[in-house]
Amino acid sequence: MLLQIAIEAIQPYVSLSVEQIKDLLEIPPSAEMGDVAFPCYTLSKIQKQAPHTIAEQLARQMQLEGIQVTAEGPYVNLRYDRGYYSNILMQQMQHPHYGQLNIGHGKKVIIDMSSPNIAKPFGIGHLRSTMIGSALYNMYQMAGYEVVSVNHLGDWGTQFGKQITAYKRWGNDEALIENPIQESLRLYVAFHDQVEHDVTLEPEAREWFRRLESGDEEAVRLWKYFVEISMQEFNRMYTRLHVSFDHVLGESFYNDKMAAVVQALEEKELLERSEGALVVRLDEEGMPPCLIMKSDGSTIYPTRDLATAFYRHEVMQGDQLLYVVGGEQKLHFEQVFAVLKKMGATWVDHCRHVHFGLMKFEGKKMSTRRGKIVQLEEVLDEAIARALQVIEDKNPDLPNKHDVAEAVGIGAIVFGDLKNNRVNEVDFSLEDALNFEGETGPYLQYTYTRTQSLILKSKVTEDRVTDDRVTEDEQALLNTPQEQPVNPLGESGWELLKVLTRYSQVLTRGILNNEPSVLARYALEVAQAFNYYYNKERILEQNHDLRTARLTLTQLTGDSLQRTMHILGIRTPNRM
Ligand code: ARG
Repeated sequence: MLLQIAIEAIQPYVSLSVEQIKDLLEIPPSAEMGDVAFPCYTLSKIQKQAPHTIAEQLARQMQLEGIQVTAEGPYVNLRYDRGYYSNILMQQMQHPHYGQLNIGHGKKVIIDMSSPNIAKPFGIGHLRSTMIGSALYNMYQMAGYEVVSVNHLGDWGTQFGKQITAYKRWGNDEALIENPIQESLRLYVAFHDQVEHDVTLEPEAREWFRRLESGDEEAVRLWKYFVEISMQEFNRMYTRLHVSFDHVLGESFYNDKMAAVVQALEEKELLERSEGALVVRLDEEGMPPCLIMKSDGSTIYPTRDLATAFYRHEVMQGDQLLYVVGGEQKLHFEQVFAVLKKMGATWVDHCRHVHFGLMKFEGKKMSTRRGKIVQLEEVLDEAIARALQVIEDKNPDLPNKHDVAEAVGIGAIVFGDLKNNRVNEVDFSLEDALNFEGETGPYLQYTYTRTQSLILKSKVTEDRVTDDRVTEDEQALLNTPQEQPVNPLGESGWELLKVLTRYSQVLTRGILNNEPSVLARYALEVAQAFNYYYNKERILEQNHDLRTARLTLTQLTGDSLQRTMHILGIRTPNRM
């Protein structure tokens, strides 16, 4: 918003386009220099004059209402009149549709997110995918895109033959219903332990998978049973994280859609035989060949992703396809995209593997192998328990303590993830994530409650002021006509206001890079600027105009925090 004002102010005086000016504008290193700076190097090249001469000329020519223009070396500095602009900017931000952009108008984005595997633990990668995916979902939606999320469950493959075999031999229904993932894992481990001693296991598993693929009633029934009990477990996690999906379409959904892909590859003469298997060679692309069909005729993960991409483009009509999947699958997606390109799918340029780094919990890796499993739900429970402890210590009379603790504990985990640049490895510490004074979810939540309690308190004092019990002193103060101050918000309030006006720029940048951390860091910036303002200025001023302006800024800060935290998937209790 501030930049927009500057662009409009400068444009009539220079021979540059709006876009060019926009790219040139800078924020001066210190607030005293001005709010926006325009460097004159580009004009200097065009006009063949020294940049500082141009800056001086411009500063002399530009006569603007509400903006003070000065030249400083090669820069033209613009300083906005605080009184004039704080009103205008706050009014714009109070518009009910403020924060809703339309850069995505008419475009549809499909986001592949979460995508855990049936009968396997919900891993940390799946958690990160869920949180990052869900933040991206909200970001795109706020920017006016039509967004569709798909949970691409790993619900097919030869492992289900093994699962059925192990279940038939050693399965225990009670344990399976009680604790589906752990019991499935036990069966999985048992199969692998026994397979060395028992030569009948492998062929039996192959036979079960064959039966499953040919639609055998018992095999399908057992497979569905495994899917169902795993889903119940995953859904518990999704409910706690407040995440839902537009579609849950597992890999099995594409079973009948792969023959067409193989046929198309054949027609385009892209398939080659290699040790009995069918592959697409990617030598020119500098990649190993992409495996399409195994020697026994079964299709695999990449083939499914090819069919999936066609489906999302052709049937679901996605303009942009995002895959929020860990960095360890980089090669897989590069291969899939390269094959699509070879097939002539020009839309592959709008497919993105939104990859992310590993996350460890207090230095421990999440692993599906025995012994080393950090259970995700335990981490959530622990975070909530610690949040509850803090509430018990500081605010024991808080109503619905448990709900607030849940919001704070989960918020801590979500923010502890999303504040990091997604490609970085994260070493997660519960202690740090729950620090109310650190760069954390609870810090944001706490700041939000501060804005809300100020607003609440102002309502109470407002009543007192309009009440006839107002003291004579107060009455005298209210009756004295006050001069409109130069800067009703104070310098710290003006700085906060400037941060608030950057929201749409921040959202746009976050979307461009598919990077929720851009918004997470912005929320911190808003909270920090607000807390500084809160400590510097008296918000609940006696003077009516001052109080109104300062409360409006407080309200806008609350709105901004709520909007951004909602995007990130963090709840905002009114009290904590
Ligand atoms: N189920 C896979 C895994 O856990 C992730 C699937 C990601 N999505 C995709 N379209 N390949 O590794």
